[in-house]
Parts: sequence; structure tokens; C-alpha cells
Amino acid sequence: MSYENIEVRVEAGKVGIVTLNRPKALNALNDALMDELGAALKAFDADEAIGCMIITGSERAFAAGADIALMAKYTFVDTYKGDYITRNWESVRSIRKPVIAAVSGFALGGGCELAMMCDFIIAADNARFGQPEIKLGVIPGAGGTQRLPRAVGKAKAMDMALTGRMMDAAEAERAGLVSRVVPYDKLMDEALGAALTIADFSQIAVMAAKESVNRAFEGSLSDGVMFERRLFHALFATADQKEGMDAFLNKRKAEFKNQ
Ligand code: CAA
Repeated sequence: MSYENIEVRVEAGKVGIVTLNRPKALNALNDALMDELGAALKAFDADEAIGCMIITGSERAFAAGADIALMAKYTFVDTYKGDYITRNWESVRSIRKPVIAAVSGFALGGGCELAMMCDFIIAADNARFGQPEIKLGVIPGAGGTQRLPRAVGKAKAMDMALTGRMMDAAEAERAGLVSRVVPYDKLMDEALGAALTIADFSQIAVMAAKESVNRAFEGSLSDGVMFERRLFHALFATADQKEGMDAFLNKRKAEFKNQ
């Protein structure tokens, strides 16, 4: 299968690597990209030879979030009726073999959420994480309000979601968001080393370990994510969403009217 928004390759016959590839938009995540990502991961998951996967981006950006140019015009009715924007993202969570996020540069909004959907994150020292949706008049819509507090605790998650500030790689490692930080030029070697270690173990045991660790975080997570998605969609009924996204696209400061 050929892809337009991602590049796919196999290393050492057993590690599937997906590189997000929309460089002009800092790998902003649109439906086409997320469909391709889901298809590529599912194909690797079904391939007996593949024991582990890596999702990565460019040096400048893992992904700068959901595609604001696409979202800016949506209304609440569009998003709710079509279950738009994050509907097809959960396919990442359905993958049974491990998926490592190798993050360099910006992992913002949906980019941070995509990294958190992976089983663990290895970051380059230039990585920056954030949930800046508040600046656009919305909130995270792909699990950020649910997975971030589970990863870093309430205080930092609230700080990130309410101020929209970014965390650098060192802070992300201290907070427990990422498992390892390495210099950028070692990022893929480090991720590949971890993936090869995993790929050499029993696939059954690896899948069971993944399933079991994830179980610790389930409970009401699905309810939380659905609740979040409904609120995220509801914000497309506000003038502030239009203002926030229009301001971004026109490179001006947003003036929110609280309506
Ligand atoms: N969607 C669409 N396009 C984006 C984008 C996004 N999320 N992020 C960056 N781009 C585009 C820019 O519009 C710009 O395009 P042009 O060259 O055509 O103008 C290009 O990528 C380069 O970006 P900048 O010129 O802004 O680069 P910078 O280095 O000055 O800033 C940045 C980098 C801090 C990441 C900045 O681009 C930025 O703040 N991006 C938006 C981040 C964001 O708000 N993400 C959350 C999106 S909402 C979301 O994700 C919802 C959800 O939870 C599912």
C-alpha cells in the first residue's frame, strides 16, 4: 500500500517504523494521515514477523496537533454528527503489539495525545510537549485531559491544559511523561534498540504485558475520553473557537469574547 502522509519501513525484519510526513504543516494530524497511520499499524500488527513498532516525526516536529486549518470552519453540529477529528485516532489503541513514540521537536495538542496513546515515549533532548488547545478556544480532544493526568499527575496536567505552556524534554522525563531522553542524533538508535529488545521476546508475553499494564489505566478512561470528546465537540458551538482558530491561521493574537 502506498501512503501520502506517512512513510513506512521495516528494520531488521522485525520492527515496523512509521514516520509522520506532512512537513509543511509540522505533521499536523488530519483524517487522511490518521487513516493511513491506523492502516499501517494494523498491517504491522497482523504481520507475524513484526514484534514492535515505532512512530516518529521529523527533527522539528513529532506532530503539532490536529489540523487547525481543517477544524477552524467546523460547527458543533459537524463535529458531533460526524464524530469528526478524533474518531479514527483510537485505532492506535487497538494495536496489540507494542508501539513506541520516538519524539523530536513539537508534540503539541493531538501530537502529544498521539504520543501518549503509544506504549511509551522516548524523547530527543529538543522535544517539547504541550496541550495548547486552550489558546484556540477549545480543549484537548484525543484523550489529553485523561491520559496526561495519569502520566504526570493532576498538578502538572492542569498547569499544561490551563496555561497551554510547553514542557521541555527534561521536565517531561522528571514528570514521568517520557521514559528516556537522548540527544537528537541518538533518538532513532535508542528507539530501535528498545524495539529490537522487545521484538526478540515472546510476542504472546509481550502482548500480555502490554494488555495488563494498560488495564491499570482503564477503569473509567473510556468514559473520560468520550466525555472529553463531547465537550471538545461542544466547543465548536462557540464564537471563541472560531476566533481562536482564525487568529492562529491569520497569525494574529486571539481576542476571546467568552461566548
Ligand atoms: N494545524 C495546521 N497547521 C499547523 C499546525 C496545526 N496544528 N501547527 C503548525 N501548522 C502550520 C502553520 O500554520 C505553518 O503553516 P504556514 O507555513 O503555511 O503558515 C507551519 O505549520 C509552520 O508553523 P509556524 O510557522 O507556526 O512555526 P513556528 O515554529 O513559528 O511555531 C508551533 C511552531 C509553536 C508548533 C506553532 O505552529 C503552533 O503553535 N502550532 C499549533 C499548535 C496547536 O495549537 N496544537 C493544537 C491543535 S488543536 C488539537 O490538537 C485538538 C486535539 O486535541 C485533537
